[in-house]
Amino acid sequence: MNASNLKPVLVIGGSGVVGRRAVKALRELHPELVLHLGGRDVNKAAALARELGRAEAVRIDLEREDLGLPPDAAFSAVVVLLKDDSLRTMKYAQGKGVPYVSFSDFVFDIGPEVALHIQHPTASPVLFLGHFLGGTVALATLQFARELKKVHAIQIGAVFDEDDVGGPAANGDMERLTKGVPSPLIRKDGKFLWATAEEDVTRTFQGADGTHWQGRAYPLLDVATLAAVTDASTVRLDFALRAASSRKPGEGPGHEVVIELTGELPDGTTAHVRHTLVDGDVHSGLSGKGVALAVERLLGLVGGAPVGPGLYSPEGVLDSAHVVERLKAWGTRIQRA
Ligand SMILES: NC(=O)c1ccc[n+]([C@@H]2O[C@H](COP(=O)([O-])OP(=O)(O)OC[C@H]3O[C@@H](n4cnc5c(N)ncnc54)[C@H](OP(=O)(O)O)[C@@H]3O)[C@@H](O)[C@H]2O)c1
Repeated sequence: MNASNLKPVLVIGGSGVVGRRAVKALRELHPELVLHLGGRDVNKAAALARELGRAEAVRIDLEREDLGLPPDAAFSAVVVLLKDDSLRTMKYAQGKGVPYVSFSDFVFDIGPEVALHIQHPTASPVLFLGHFLGGTVALATLQFARELKKVHAIQIGAVFDEDDVGGPAANGDMERLTKGVPSPLIRKDGKFLWATAEEDVTRTFQGADGTHWQGRAYPLLDVATLAAVTDASTVRLDFALRAASSRKPGEGPGHEVVIELTGELPDGTTAHVRHTLVDGDVHSGLSGKGVALAVERLLGLVGGAPVGPGLYSPEGVLDSAHVVERLKAWGTRIQRA
């Protein structure tokens, strides 16, 4: 598949905090791919489109079934980097028979999309990418788990800088989370649990440099995905915040992820393996890269033929080894401790 032969990729929210990182990563990977950046403020999107080249801004009206786009609009994929409560964007992608990427769903959010996919299972590939950092952490975890014959526990801890906040859409989602469904999903003793007890919600973990952090579980799709793939009886993902004042001079608001795996090695012995991902960028950087890697794969620009209709999670479309190599090449420091 050649990027220059493809119809434009419609990136709704492409001018946002994550969106601009996603389209820049896509542009870096595929200079020929035409991108259409959708939003309400076309001037903002147009300025970014000029910067990117082979891109244009399109006004999106989520109140309309046709999204406010002309009847003859044609795209190769629809990527939606905001929470579309109406699912009009998904219906639009299904109507055109092109891949759809959903990026803003917590684990408790996906029911309506699953139901819509079930109604039209052969319409288009639908990818859930609400996973932590655009699926990159789930994929890295699965790559690291390959050395184990059987995985018993997956515990992921992440540390963010308190200044590393997203744009208004991301803040709206956080508000939805705190007001709506506050219980995070964990897997404990082989059972899925919407955790409410403080001892289930919180966990102390050791950061990349040995600092102890008090993390809180977070209801992202990663727990469901990692449990489904590995059948580990313990799976959780905890977030901690670092005060901006604790940054070293000249240091930006970077983030780190610690992935701890317990399981059985091929020789039958039990192992506890720890990997760290340290990134000096804001978290929207890796999240946007996750989007770019998913889009190029869905379109068949890497890793095989274009992905056919179906309901997918990142590991169903992306090769975990390829993703880890890409992240390293992009500058994330990944180490096995
Ligand atoms: N899965 C992950 O790894 C991950 C990571 C980070 C964030 N997220 C999610 O990604 C989403 C974007 O976060 P962000 O920080 O990039 O937010 P943001 O900076 O507010 O970006 C939102 C984008 O959507 C557009 N938009 C907002 N409302 C719209 C509407 N009603 N119609 C059309 N376009 C609209 C905005 O452009 P206009 O203002 O011009 O409309 C902008 O381009 C959030 O839902 C966040 O929770 C997911």
